[in-house]
Amino acid sequence: MKPKILITKKLPDYVEEYIGNYCDYEIIEDAGYNDIINKIHDKDGLLLAGTKIDKNLLEHAPKLKVVSNISVGYNNFNIEDMKAKNIIGTHTPGVLNDTVADLIFGLILSTARKLPEMDRYVKDGRWNKQDESIIFSKDVHHSTLGIIGMGRIGETVAKRAKYGFDMNVLYYNRNRKYDTEKNIGVKYADLNDLLKQSDFILIMTALTDETYHMIDEEQFNLMKSDAILINASRGATVNEKALIKALNEKKILGAGLDVFEKEPIEKDNPLLKMSNVVLLPHVGSATIKTRNDMARLAAENLVAALKGEVPPNVVPE
Ligand code: DGY
Repeated sequence: MKPKILITKKLPDYVEEYIGNYCDYEIIEDAGYNDIINKIHDKDGLLLAGTKIDKNLLEHAPKLKVVSNISVGYNNFNIEDMKAKNIIGTHTPGVLNDTVADLIFGLILSTARKLPEMDRYVKDGRWNKQDESIIFSKDVHHSTLGIIGMGRIGETVAKRAKYGFDMNVLYYNRNRKYDTEKNIGVKYADLNDLLKQSDFILIMTALTDETYHMIDEEQFNLMKSDAILINASRGATVNEKALIKALNEKKILGAGLDVFEKEPIEKDNPLLKMSNVVLLPHVGSATIKTRNDMARLAAENLVAALKGEVPPNVVPE
């Protein structure tokens, strides 16, 4: 008998076909936490993107062996609860590095050079007025980029920054990355120094108990008044209330955000009314090819675990 799995996303046909060779699968598109609970009792595997996996859900899943996330981030997993039940968690690193790094440069350029604002300026017919004050912006080339979290995506961004934009790149990470320092020419800085010196501060670290609100009022107070914060990791690495305060009080120049503490963003979030921010709907990896590659990798991880093999991308503990 084939193992039974639940899938909560529409997958490319070839990925569904691949899964179907090994598993009996049920797809409930956009299934949420409660939908999963209602369907999980007889399932051996779960393929999803970002839904919380906690003790309560696992209590409804007596047969579950593997949860495969279609994302590199896995802060939705309660690793302790999964370990206690011998459930394998997997994710999709690697295949999205360049796509996310491209988007991060989009955010850097959009915020620094005010691209959305300039677009509105032209489309609103205001260009004729030659209002000089609005058009000036901030250089990206030869400025300092501080990357917090020098993992695979951080390194991919650093290459673009060094080779494409002649930027000075600082990084802060749990462990020094001596090879990256040598190969790409980035420099290690402790967190406070990085915050004080950087023109662009990029958060790329995973969300964990240690990194929750690691950028808070105290950290904003250290930043340059023309610094721009870019977050493409997880919203809760930054205390959003402190960010809004820093933007309102002009402690920093602006922010480019692909992630938020609450997603989708709440309709009354003050960020929505601010002109010095560029906001995206968590689309870092959202190109057709990369999302297909992530789905394929997630399926391979899932199938390997159900065959009793060690999946290629078990989440680190
Ligand atoms: C990830 O894979 O974790 C990215 O945030 C895209 O969802």
